[in-house]
Parts: sequence; C-alpha cells; structure tokens
Amino acid sequence: MTGSRRLNILGIESSCDETSVAILSDDDVKVNLISSQHFHKTYGGVVPELSSRAHLQMVKPLVDSALQSAKLNLNEIDLITATTGPGLIGALLVGLTFAKGLSFSLNKPFVAINHIEGHIFSGFLMEQKPEFPMLVLVVSGGHTLLLFVESFTRIFLLGTTVDDAAGEAFDKVSKLLGFGYPGGPQIEASALKGDEKKIKFPVAELKDEYNFSFSGLKTAVLRFVQKNYNDRKIPESDLNNISASFQKALVDALVQKVNLALNNHKVKSLSLVGGVAANTKLRNEFNNLAKRNKIPCIIPSLSYCGDNAAMIALRGLQLYRSGVIDNLRAKPYPSIPENHFLRMS
Ligand code: KG4
Ligand code: ZN
Repeated sequence: MTGSRRLNILGIESSCDETSVAILSDDDVKVNLISSQHFHKTYGGVVPELSSRAHLQMVKPLVDSALQSAKLNLNEIDLITATTGPGLIGALLVGLTFAKGLSFSLNKPFVAINHIEGHIFSGFLMEQKPEFPMLVLVVSGGHTLLLFVESFTRIFLLGTTVDDAAGEAFDKVSKLLGFGYPGGPQIEASALKGDEKKIKFPVAELKDEYNFSFSGLKTAVLRFVQKNYNDRKIPESDLNNISASFQKALVDALVQKVNLALNNHKVKSLSLVGGVAANTKLRNEFNNLAKRNKIPCIIPSLSYCGDNAAMIALRGLQLYRSGVIDNLRAKPYPSIPENHFLRMS
C-alpha cells in the first residue's frame, strides 16, 4: 500500500483513433480530454499510420491543457499511466513512449495499462460503484468479453466472441448499408426510425455456453440486402427497418448470454462497458435485466464508454495501490496476451 494521501494520476490513452489525456485525484476525475480522429471516416476505417501521426500531434498539447484545467504542474503528478495494449502498435507507441519519458524525467512511478482492464473497471468512475463479485460485459470495436470479476485483481473469462466483435458487427453492417464508419452511432440513429420486428435475423446457437458469434448475423443482413435489392438503392424506411432488426438480434444475443451467466453465478452487480455500451437499446435491456435479478447495473456515462484516459488512470491507481509499478521496458502489444484472464474451472 502507498498510504492514504490522495494521489494525482496522469493517464494517457492512444490505442486506436482517440488521443485521450486525463488527470484524476484518486478516483475523482479532474479532467478527461478526448480528441477523436474523425478523418478516418474518409477511408472507411482506421488507417494505422495516419492514426500514429495524429497521436503524435495531439499528445503534448492535450497533456498541457489537462494540467492547465486541473490547475496542476507536472511536478504535482504522483503517478503516470498509459495504455500498453491491446491496440495498434504505432498508435500505442506514441502515448506509451511519451508517458515513459515523463516518468523517467520526473522520477515518478509508471504503470502500464491493458486497455481492456481499463474498460472492465470503468464503472468505478461513476458515483454508484459496482460491487464484487460482478458480472461485466465488455463490448467494443475489437472485443466482446463476458467476465466474472471477483476483485480488482481476480478476473475470470467466461466467454468471448468466436469471430467478429459486437462493435465490429455494427461497423461492418453499417458499411454494407452505406452508412460508413464508425457504424454503431449511425445504425442506432437509423434503427430509432425503424421497426425492429420487421425482419427476423438469426441469433447464433453455440455449444460453448458463454461464447458469442456475430459473423452469421452480418452475413444474414448481407444476404437479405442482396436478395431483396440486388443493386437497387434501398429505400430509407427499409434501411431503418434493417438497422432496427439487426440491432435487436445483436442485443438479444448479448442479453441471452448475460442472462444465462446471471442464472449460474451469484453476483452483487452487473456492468456494461466499452464503446458499444453507448447504445441506448443495449443500456435499457441491461437495466431491465439487472432489475429482474434485483442487482444494481452500472453503465458508465457516454464519455467513459468509448476509449478514454480516465479509465486508464483509474486502473493505474487500482494496480499501484495493490503494489504494481512497471519499469520503463513495458512494450506495446496488439492483442490480449493468451491466458491474461483467469479461467473458471
Ligand atoms: O471501446 P471503443 O471506443 O474502441 C475499441 O476499443 O474498439 O469501441 C468502438 C466501437 C465501434 O465499433 C463503434 O461502432 C461502437 O463502439 N459504438 C457503438 C455505438 N457507439 C460506438 N455501437 C453501437 N451503438 C452505439 N451507439
Ligand atoms: Zn476500447
């Protein structure tokens, strides 16, 4: 333990297309700046090289303005944290190297953060904190993970996707419907105007009880579009019905598995995190599910759903308080290391 004095933590996140810098005083967020690289829209997805360059331009100005907003100078920072993976290597290198440089020059401790762990505990940024043990669903552009979380250091993986991640499915279906990248918000907006009962898209049945699969759903949408419209333009009302029906099938698939896990594991809270947790239908279904199970449901506010440095700084504090300090050799990594999470026997 490091004593009970409040700590000022600097967090840096640069795993994909958001440069984010946050300053926390213990678990109190003083500032959480996020600069999104909207220019990737032109290319239909994130271009790694352009992402690294934009991070390079943004990281220092963001650190400067975060310090200014928090009314702190660099010497008053007690702990430095940055995302080390999973993510795009070039993008990660920018934030990670900047943080390591600060740590070295200021002689302040540094903790390297797995950004998925940042998402997992992002519910702790909210006023109402989750209680252990908790069930967490991480839904982002690259990951779909169902986890049983016993404490800040004991995280068990129950299930994951066998193909596309939930956010990836939103992005791919969005592309094939002509909406573009990122898909989630655009599909959601279109779905709001549509009828979700119009088309029945299939939900995959998997042998492994907690795993997910979304590539069949994506193909079903593609077949539906090819069969009914061929090369013709899809009328807007039909587009809205397709979006709504696709969104319903995906949300149903997620809720089904979480419901099963709630039946089999006694937990004190439920948490929904990651970029796709911004989806209103999914948030509503999770709140209903938790109500039926008489447990609290903690879903971060929208600025903490997508990639953000506040969750990185908070995870840094949790690890530091449990005795973790990294050296400056921490290297970026593209995907979650195998066996990173515990397995339930
Ligand atoms: O966590 P995140 O910001 O980045 C990754 O670590 O991947 O998640 C990004 C994903 C994208 O696939 C995006 O389409 C999805 O989150 N997303 C949404 C919504 N907002 C963002 N998906 C569904 N509904 C939304 N409102
Ligand atoms: Zn993320």
